[in-house]
Amino acid sequence: MEYTVITGACGGLGQAFCRIYAKEKESLLITGRSQVKLEALQKQLMEEYQISVRIKVCNLSNLNETQQFCEELKSLSVKRLINNAGIGTYGLFEQEKISTLLDIHQINMTSLMMLIHAVIPNMNKSGGEILNVASTAAFQPGPMMSVYYASKSYVLSLSEALWAELIHSNIKVSVLCCGPMNTEFASKAKLKHTWMQKLLMISVDDAALLAKKGLASGKRCIVPGTLNKMAVFVSKYLPDSLLVRLMAYVQSKRK
Ligand SMILES: NC(=O)c1ccc[n+]([C@@H]2O[C@H](COP(=O)([O-])OP(=O)(O)OC[C@H]3O[C@@H](n4cnc5c(N)ncnc54)[C@H](OP(=O)(O)O)[C@@H]3O)[C@@H](O)[C@H]2O)c1
Repeated sequence: MEYTVITGACGGLGQAFCRIYAKEKESLLITGRSQVKLEALQKQLMEEYQISVRIKVCNLSNLNETQQFCEELKSLSVKRLINNAGIGTYGLFEQEKISTLLDIHQINMTSLMMLIHAVIPNMNKSGGEILNVASTAAFQPGPMMSVYYASKSYVLSLSEALWAELIHSNIKVSVLCCGPMNTEFASKAKLKHTWMQKLLMISVDDAALLAKKGLASGKRCIVPGTLNKMAVFVSKYLPDSLLVRLMAYVQSKRK
């Protein structure tokens, strides 16, 4: 059986990916930390879409658990990997617990990279798709969320490099740089959406659908929404010294 693997499946965007690929009758391997949440989602998807859904409990902030999950993936046929799980936190760098910052590193960067590395050998034989979820945060530094923004820059850079490395193979790699979405992400990260984030906001269903289409067509970087595309364009062309000051102001309003 060929699986579409979705990390962070029980969250807002993750669930949207589950629904989209379930509609396509893909067999899913969904992962998250909570067995109870995963079982409930598995039951719902199997009943609604009559597809096969396998679950895997894995805490991606734990290196050993991630290594074990990678070994399991190597023995499976993975058609598609959606690296969606991610966390952030709002606050001054010096006041964050180092354990929180290390968790952001491990989940957003190291585990994401390890999962890609685990699935590529088998995908080389039969083809496949890899989607990494970054953010529009990837395009600039983010004072008050410095480690999160830096982690998403890593995801963008890694994904674009792999897109180029694998361009002549039968593996497609895309990175999704979405703007604000109405999920539990903001409340977990202890930040609020100001009028500006509300203006840029898109639904998880729209973001996931655009990502699915972009990935299938081999698009390198997917930025959903016209206003988000404009924001990314501006951030690329503003002088760095101005951009970081502007971001410090914007971020100061998100308390
Ligand atoms: N929402 C936004 O405004 C926004 C904007 C740009 C990019 N993004 C990115 O979109 C992705 C999805 O976020 P979301 O908005 O859907 O937020 P969310 O609702 O908080 O979902 C995040 C998912 O990641 C999982 N996760 C967190 N810690 C984990 C861990 N230690 N091990 C395994 N899984 C873990 C969560 O699982 P649990 O249920 O176990 O917590 C949850 O399923 C993230 O990469 C985020 O950075 C979000």
